[in-house]
Amino acid sequence: MTDTSGQIDHVLNEDRTFPPPAEFTEKAVFSSKSQYDEACKRASEDRDGFWKEEAEKHLHWFEPFNQVCRWDAPNVEWFVGGKTNASYNCLDRHVEAGRGDRTAILWEGEPGDTRCLSYAELRTEVAKCAAALQELGIGTGDVVSVYMPMTPELAIIMLACARIGAVHSVIFAGFSAESIADRNNDAKAKLVVTADGLHRRGKVLPLKETVDEALAKSPTVEKCLVLRRVGQDGVAMQEGRDVWWHDVVDKQSGDLPAKPLDSETTLFILYTSGSTGKPKGIRHTTAGYNLWAMRTFQWVFDHREEDVYWCTADCGWITGHSYIVYGPLSAGATCLMYEGAPNHPAEDRFWDLVEKYKVTTLYTAPTAIRAFIKWGDEHVEKHDLSSLRLLGSVGEGINPEAWMWYHEKIGYENCPIVDTWWQTETGGIMMSPLPGITATKPGSCTTPLPGIVPKIVDEAGKPVQQNNGGMLCIAEPWPGMLRGIWGDEERFVEQYWSTVPGMYLTGDNARQDEDGYYWIMGRIDDVINVSGHRLSTIEVESALVSHEAVCEAAVVGRPDDLKGQAIAAFVTIRDREPDDALRTELRQHVRKQIGALAQPDDLRFAATLPKTRSGKIMRRLLRDVASGREIGGDTSTLEDFSVIAKLSEDE
Ligand code: WT7
Repeated sequence: MTDTSGQIDHVLNEDRTFPPPAEFTEKAVFSSKSQYDEACKRASEDRDGFWKEEAEKHLHWFEPFNQVCRWDAPNVEWFVGGKTNASYNCLDRHVEAGRGDRTAILWEGEPGDTRCLSYAELRTEVAKCAAALQELGIGTGDVVSVYMPMTPELAIIMLACARIGAVHSVIFAGFSAESIADRNNDAKAKLVVTADGLHRRGKVLPLKETVDEALAKSPTVEKCLVLRRVGQDGVAMQEGRDVWWHDVVDKQSGDLPAKPLDSETTLFILYTSGSTGKPKGIRHTTAGYNLWAMRTFQWVFDHREEDVYWCTADCGWITGHSYIVYGPLSAGATCLMYEGAPNHPAEDRFWDLVEKYKVTTLYTAPTAIRAFIKWGDEHVEKHDLSSLRLLGSVGEGINPEAWMWYHEKIGYENCPIVDTWWQTETGGIMMSPLPGITATKPGSCTTPLPGIVPKIVDEAGKPVQQNNGGMLCIAEPWPGMLRGIWGDEERFVEQYWSTVPGMYLTGDNARQDEDGYYWIMGRIDDVINVSGHRLSTIEVESALVSHEAVCEAAVVGRPDDLKGQAIAAFVTIRDREPDDALRTELRQHVRKQIGALAQPDDLRFAATLPKTRSGKIMRRLLRDVASGREIGGDTSTLEDFSVIAKLSEDE
C-alpha cells in the first residue's frame, strides 16, 4: 500500500473545509450560492409552483397534468392527470430537437471491444426491442426481470420497457438462482431477459445457466429472451420458452412510438434489502422519478454539453438506474458505460478509460477508491487524468482518507467532490454539495437539494439538538420518492411511515453540525453496508439456517478497510464437526442462496448464542466480538457466550 497518510493527516489537521474552486460557477446550472438558496426557498415556500415549473420545462408531456402534488402521507401522486413517457424523455425529444447525432452511450466491454451509440441509434434499438417485447406478449403493467451484463442492451431493455409501460425489475448479475427465483415470484414476472454469459476478470460466467435454474422455480415466467454476448457454445434453449435476442429484436422496424403513460404508471421495481429476511421491491413511477433523476443529475453533476460522464455503477443497483440511464439520458448527456472489473487486465483499467475517453465527470464508490489506494498510486500515475473536472461518491460515507486521495490523486486538487447521500427509495440524490457552490467537508454529504426537508428526530419523534445523533427523516414529499413496496402495502407503511408519523423514515442515523451540514452515521436497523451494497443481516441468517447442519445463526457487520463493513456470522451446529470444511461449505451455501456479495467474511462456530432473557440475540455484543474484542481465536467455539449473556442480562 502506498503511504500517503502522513501528507493527508497534515492537510486534514490544517483545514477540514474545502472552499469551492472560484472559476467553477461561471457555467454551472446553479451559478451562484444565491441562486441555489433561492431555489431551495422557492421549493419550500411554494412546493407546487416550483415543481410545476420544473416539470413543464424539463419533461415532455403528451397531455398536461392538472394537479402538481396530491399528498396524504404515505400516499403521494405527482403531476396528476398528465401523460408522459420516460423513454421519450430520454431519447425521442433529443432526436426531434435535431440532436440525434450526439453520442448517448460510449461503451467498452471488459475484453476491450467498443461500441458507440448516438441518441438516434439508441432510439432505434429501443424501439425495436420494445416491439419485440410486444411480440413476446409483454404489455403495460407486465413485469420483466432483467439479469444482464453491463452491455448497451441492458440500458436498451430498460428503456424498451419504459417505452410500452412494462415494469422492469433489474436483478444484479451477481445474485444467485435462488434470489432470481424469489424476485420473479414476488413480482410475478412474465419475462426474463438475460445473456449467454458475462465477462468478469477474464472469465466467462454462464448467466443463462443460472437463469435456467431460477426458471425451474419461477412458474409465472412464460418467456426468456437471451442476448448473445460472449458467444458461449451449447447454450440450452428451451423450445417454446427461450428466444434469442437477435432472432426477435433485429427483425423489428425500429419505429414503434413511445406510449403516452399516466404520470403514476409504475416505471420499475428494484429489490433491495430491508430489516427482515425478504428483499422488498421498491416501486418508482414514471413522471416524478424521471424528473427527479434528471434534475438531480443536472444540479449535482453540473452537466454541460461538452461533458463525458462516467458512472461506474452497475445497472443492477439504483445508482445505475438513475445515474447511468434515466438521469443522464434525459439530460442528453454522453455517458461512458463499462462492462467489467476495475482490475482487469490490470489495476489501471479505470484510469485507462478516463484517459482514453477524456472523461470529465466521474461518479464512483468509496469502496472502489479504497481498493485503488491499496493497489498503489503507480497505476494512477501512468495516466493523464486532466480531463476530469468533477468527482462524485456514492454508496456509503466517504472516509476522509479516501476523500483526500480522491481529491489529490484523481482530481489533481482542483476537482470538487460531491459526496451524494440517497437511497434506492429516494430515487435520486437527496443531499450533496453542489460543485462550485458548497464548501465541502470530507465525510459530510453537506446540505439538501431544493425541495428536500430533512429532520433529525429522537425516539419520540422530537427534533434533536444540533450535533446530536438521531433518526434521519424527510418531512415533505419530493417527486422521486418511492410509491410503495411491490405487493406489500402493509410493509411499506410499517417500514417507512409508522415510526415517526407523517414523515418518511430513511433508516439512517445522522447529525447536523454547527454549519448546518449533515453527517450520516450509519443505519438504525439490521441492515449493513457491504461495499456500498445494502444487505440485511437477517437475510444472511436465513440463508445459513437453511443449511441442515445449522441450528441457529447470528450475523453482524464489522468494520472492514476495503468494504466498509464485512459480514461476520456466528453459528451453532448439529451433527457435524466445527471444522474448516464445514466453514467453507456454509460460506458456499450462502453464496448459492443469495449471491457472492452475501458470503460471510468470518464464520465462527459457537456452542450457544448470547441472548437476552426475552430471547433476543445480543447483536451489540456480537459486533464487539466480531470487531476484534473477542474471546479466543477465529476458530474457537465461543462457549463463553453463555457467561457473557448472563452477565449482560441485567444491563
Ligand atoms: C444506504 C442506501 C444511494 C445509492 C446507492 C446505495 C448509505 C448511501 C451514502 C453517503 C453515507 C450513504 C445509507 C443509505 N449511503 N450513500 N453518501 N453517505 N451513507 O443505495 O442500497 O439503497 O443504500 O446507503 O445508509 O441509507 P442503497
